[in-house]
Amino acid sequence: MTQITKVLVSKDQLQQRVRELGAEISRDYAGKELVLICILKGGAVFMSDLMREITFPVGIDYMSVSSYGASSTSSGVITIKKDIDMDIRGKHVLLVEDLIDTGLTLQHLKELFALREAASVRICTILSKPSRRLVDVPIDYSGIDIPDEFVVGYGLDYAEQFRNLPEVWIVETRD
Ligand code: XMP
Ligand code: MG
Repeated sequence: MTQITKVLVSKDQLQQRVRELGAEISRDYAGKELVLICILKGGAVFMSDLMREITFPVGIDYMSVSSYGASSTSSGVITIKKDIDMDIRGKHVLLVEDLIDTGLTLQHLKELFALREAASVRICTILSKPSRRLVDVPIDYSGIDIPDEFVVGYGLDYAEQFRNLPEVWIVETRD
């Protein structure tokens, strides 16, 4: 049995943190050509909120990768399911993620955009599970640290469900 039992991060907490991150990013990239690249599908809700907190025009694009098979643990291998449309050479890239767990996905993506000759590549995530990290990838803009619990909502899913919940909830699975 799967049930969502408890709100871990409220709508207000998310909104406040997104505002702060947007302000920080706006300050850091002022005068630069910035492209936000959302990692689908989980990053889509955060991306939509974050881009509206940035105070100058930015480019946006979307990509979809899979690092998780049927299980909910990272395999360490990523496959690009949908690539971006834009040429990002010479532009400043900010990767926008829902949650950083082991860090493997973002480590791969960072290398990929460096190879594509982006002017810079940084990482922004709304949620992070620091206790699960396997690689030491720097998170330039980190929203909220959470414990090692499986969570859904605010873009995150369990079996493609619950992405539309406005809060982040803890999932409990029992037999
Ligand atoms: P890594 O381990 O490469 O993976 O940092 C990050 C991706 O794993 C997914 N993930 C989760 N998805 N609830 C989810 O719905 C979770 O608790 C969870 N933990 C990791 C997530 O999609 C992220 O992009
Ligand atoms: Mg996911």
